Amino acid sequence: MDRPAPLLATADAHLAEEVQRLAASVGTSPVVTADAGGLLRRWHGPPLVLVGADLVEQAAALRPPRRAGVVLVSSGPLPPGLLRPALDLGVGEVVELPSGSGWLATALGDLEEATRGGAVVGVLGGAGGAGATTFAAALGQLAAHQGPVLVVDADPLGPGLDRVLGVEQGQGVGWEVLTTSRGRLSARDLREGVPRRGPLGVLTWRGAQLPRLPDDDQLAEVVEAARRGHDLVVVDLARSRDDRAGLLARCDLVVVLVPATVVGVASTVRACAALDDPGRAGLVLVGREADEEAVARATGLPVLARMTRQRGLDEAVDLGLGPVRHHRGQLGRAAAAVLTRTSLLGRAA
Ligand SMILES: Nc1ncnc2c1ncn2[C@@H]1O[C@H](COP(=O)(O)OP(=O)(O)OP(=O)(O)O)[C@@H](O)[C@H]1O
Ligand SMILES: [Mg+2]
Repeated sequence: MDRPAPLLATADAHLAEEVQRLAASVGTSPVVTADAGGLLRRWHGPPLVLVGADLVEQAAALRPPRRAGVVLVSSGPLPPGLLRPALDLGVGEVVELPSGSGWLATALGDLEEATRGGAVVGVLGGAGGAGATTFAAALGQLAAHQGPVLVVDADPLGPGLDRVLGVEQGQGVGWEVLTTSRGRLSARDLREGVPRRGPLGVLTWRGAQLPRLPDDDQLAEVVEAARRGHDLVVVDLARSRDDRAGLLARCDLVVVLVPATVVGVASTVRACAALDDPGRAGLVLVGREADEEAVARATGLPVLARMTRQRGLDEAVDLGLGPVRHHRGQLGRAAAAVLTRTSLLGRAA
């Protein structure tokens, strides 16, 4: 893929040189415009627009439409009085050089990824043992036929999604490493760092005695880097509210696995009542005996797919083949139905 060029708008030769040097160090080169009119003409194309502190007031006065990826750059501390025009312009980040060089280099190096931006799908068990982890693995396994996927193990009490999928850990990066790192995480570093089998990557714990998730800021950083670097991110959410809180809000769709039994549905009703935004959630019913409409009514959520239990599943997982053995099996078809929904979500989210 051709790397899209960022845009730099500044008439300050020193700032232009600083940014160009940084960009060159990560293999990219910005298109430079020296006035606000040139900025406005090219406003929509580039994935990242860097506006020099010298031009921010003029640019804001032209009132361009809102867009993402606008960064205010200044050589040295930001001069006072620029906050208002920066807000008017929709600036998402302010970078003072040279202290912000690391952040800017990562953002510039990530441009190839910035054009990707896949969906994030969370999978949650309506009741314990409903098959959520297995379904998350199945979604990842199927979607990997179309492009890069990351399956994120976010349940500290789960079996480890690398095991369920049969992906060797090798030297790959796990949560432990990400928990101790700070700052902007590059989409490429994450994609290339985690254990993978071809397009299918897994983020999990590497032999931790007491697995735990990082804090909300770090989780947000990881999910956004994962989203930028993959076509689809699947998150196996913990059933415990504390462990899943920070991640739930980042999901474009939450798939709730429901055992089609009286107690399974009762437990799911509680689990769904605790969802902040049920508009983004849907159900996968597991079992023969369930009245779809009654379950949808009780939970207030639509049924995305239903399936009976998949024969031979434990053997396939034990052999390291992942849960989906045949695309036409129960699990494969239900996962495909949910993936169809996912592509309908669009990439704008
Ligand atoms: N679609 C399925 N067909 C047959 N067996 C399944 C299916 N999904 C899961 N199982 C089996 O049920 C058990 C529990 O599955 P899984 O770990 O995926 O559930 P869970 O909802 O993630 O559980 P937990 O509440 O512990 O997180 C496993 O032994 C798994 O092999
Ligand atoms: Mg689980």
